[in-house]
Amino acid sequence: MESRSPRTKKQRSLSGVFITFEGTEGSGKTTQCRRLARSLRAQGYQVIETREPGGTPLAETIRKLLLASSKPQGHAESITPCCESMLIFAARSQHVAHVIQPALAKGMIVLCDRFFDSTLAYQGYARSLDKTFLITAQQFVTNGLQPHLTFFLDLPIQDGLARRQRAKKQNRLDHESLSFHRRVRRGFLALTKQYPERIQQIDARQSPHALADQIASMTSHIIHNNTSLGLVHSSPKK
Ligand SMILES: Nc1ncnc2c1ncn2[C@@H]1O[C@H](COP(=O)(O)OP(=O)(O)OP(=O)(O)O)[C@@H](O)[C@H]1O
Ligand SMILES: [Mg+2]
Repeated sequence: MESRSPRTKKQRSLSGVFITFEGTEGSGKTTQCRRLARSLRAQGYQVIETREPGGTPLAETIRKLLLASSKPQGHAESITPCCESMLIFAARSQHVAHVIQPALAKGMIVLCDRFFDSTLAYQGYARSLDKTFLITAQQFVTNGLQPHLTFFLDLPIQDGLARRQRAKKQNRLDHESLSFHRRVRRGFLALTKQYPERIQQIDARQSPHALADQIASMTSHIIHNNTSLGLVHSSPKK
């Protein structure tokens, strides 16, 4: 991944905008992705909201395998970090080829709830898989596609896990230790330092409304300052 110019040669033929939402569990990614989609559609942009792992029927089936909640003391076979990352990349290949690339080629705005930074943070930083290998695998499955802009919603781990409990959302990752989640957060912080032009760190302790305003303003900056984009735009919705 390049740190200075996020637009690769391949991406120059794509006229849309690719925006990703990243962060630890319960940090507000899905909420903000939805709010931004609503706001952009109201301005007349054509927007696709999607998520990882998932985004196509096959990739959503892989998601179910990945997130199935298995009890730590149960008899379920545990998933190895290597298997977990291969499934994530398999799902991403389907997602990029069938949803993200075609939408960007049509000049749409693609909002994706998690993407490659999550793979580096969870599988690289937290599970200690080789980061250089993960970057090479990413290149292989996406053909070099990178987000124009990434929002990293940063929230203390316990706040996010408490939000998830309140929302009664639980999956396999909720059984991970606090130190695992802290390594994930440190991973996102390291990535933010490494790719400061692409990744915007946002204090996710703010209200959903304040976050949405900040995110909308940064997005409009990218859209209006990137003259090489060819976004499709219709009349704003009343
Ligand atoms: N800024 C906020 N302040 C307080 N609560 C919030 C905020 N944003 C979202 N929430 C609530 O926290 C919970 C988790 O939010 P959300 O599902 O958007 O997070 P997420 O990052 O997508 O979580 P996950 O990692 O589970 O996918 C939801 O119940 C949501 O209503
Ligand atoms: Mg979510």
